Amino acid sequence: MSDQHHQPQKTFTITNDETGESWVLPVVEGTVGPPAVDVRKFYAETGHFTFDPSFTSTGSCKSRITFIDGDEGILMYRGYDIKELAEKSTFLEVSYLLLYGDLPNKAEMDDFHHTITYHTMVHEQIINFFRGFRRDAHPMAVMCGVVGALSAFYHDSLDIWDPRQREISAHRLLSKMPTLAAMSYKYGIGQPFIYPRNDLGYAENFLHMCFSVPAEDYKCSPTIARAMDRIFILHADHEQNASTSTVRLAGSSQANPFACIAAGIASLWGPSHGGANQAVLEMLSEIGSKDRIPEFLERAKDKDDSFRLMGFGHRVYKNYDPRAEVLRESCHEVLEELGVSDDPMLELAMELERIALEDPYFVERKLYPNVDFYSGIILKAIGFPPNMFTVLFALARTIGWISQWKEMIEEPAHRIGRPRQVYTGPTARPYVDMGKR
Ligand code: CMC
Repeated sequence: MSDQHHQPQKTFTITNDETGESWVLPVVEGTVGPPAVDVRKFYAETGHFTFDPSFTSTGSCKSRITFIDGDEGILMYRGYDIKELAEKSTFLEVSYLLLYGDLPNKAEMDDFHHTITYHTMVHEQIINFFRGFRRDAHPMAVMCGVVGALSAFYHDSLDIWDPRQREISAHRLLSKMPTLAAMSYKYGIGQPFIYPRNDLGYAENFLHMCFSVPAEDYKCSPTIARAMDRIFILHADHEQNASTSTVRLAGSSQANPFACIAAGIASLWGPSHGGANQAVLEMLSEIGSKDRIPEFLERAKDKDDSFRLMGFGHRVYKNYDPRAEVLRESCHEVLEELGVSDDPMLELAMELERIALEDPYFVERKLYPNVDFYSGIILKAIGFPPNMFTVLFALARTIGWISQWKEMIEEPAHRIGRPRQVYTGPTARPYVDMGKR
């Protein structure tokens, strides 16, 4: 059958300078964004691997979920601009969009809302799990363990080849993450766990489980609930970052979704990734006052000093992080509502931002404030301790992880992920008996 619109396959030719041999490689193109050279048969045909240890030039999959243009500062979920979603949508609607591909109509949204709301309770025996941790454990350590343990509680949704079971697992994760995150907080401060309430919205219910006590309900203002919901929207997905790639790689071996999300949580924990929001606040306390900013800027520029300006720079964004732009606005709204707009920490943060944006070192390297720079300040104002910040990131990112996992499992050609290496160790040598070493 002839196809009139058939486009010739674009190719990329690579030549071995030593032998003069050339190979023509197919080019893969998406709907937007730079094209990619398909090197899948490269080793078989040339006897060479490609070498890209931190994956700066490597596309690991095709995906229809999230698009980032780091130079232009654009982030879209399923084609919708993040700023528009943050302004007009809700986290639950965005979750539906990420999971199913399109915005829901009213009936679909009502149904989804009901399903997620009515699965927020966790198996009562999970409480015993929490009791096994030390009270002073980092809540991310608790989350790694407890989310992984969900696979020991929900056996009826572990068959990854059954689409309905995949969907149930996704719903369970989205519903139960706020409950588990709130429990990890309550456990650390020695307060009783608070059960979810079905009459509250997603973000509001989470704040209720964190800040209510049996003796008194938490009164949540619409501004705070909205800011929380917005933080969730902005953190919901970010294409193939370290934790999402971890989830995909774990899932490529056909591991169950709860185990894969636990792997994602572990990867997110590090200060170069999700742990940066906690690190921002710690850095601001360490700097302490505006007059010490120059000293810390000098340290950040010094190659012999491991100190980096936390909340600045991004592997992909070489422009203002669009999420940071939205949160900058929310940050002011929240601080005004709570009457802390003259918070010295915020003043320090604003001054640091101003100076860093003018400093040639940061300008030349395109190191702009990222999402973590502002989220930490908002979360602190709402009342969360810094060690909970990354937990909130994990809560929000769960929908992105599970949507990416689902997309991968549903890809007919998916195979286990297995990078190769350039070996630089000793060449073959004979074993030497202990007495002769
Ligand atoms: N402070 C000082 N210098 C920096 C910083 C920083 N925060 N970030 C990058 N640089 C310098 C770096 O030293 C290098 O300089 P040179 O070219 O002279 O050697 C140049 O900028 C490029 O840095 P890189 O390390 O090659 O960049 P990367 O893409 O590997 O790192 C990053 C990205 C986010 C890990 C890094 O910018 C960083 O450590 N930032 C601070 C931590 C942070 O805020 N992380 C949150 C990221 S956003 C949330 C998320 O996606 O999880």
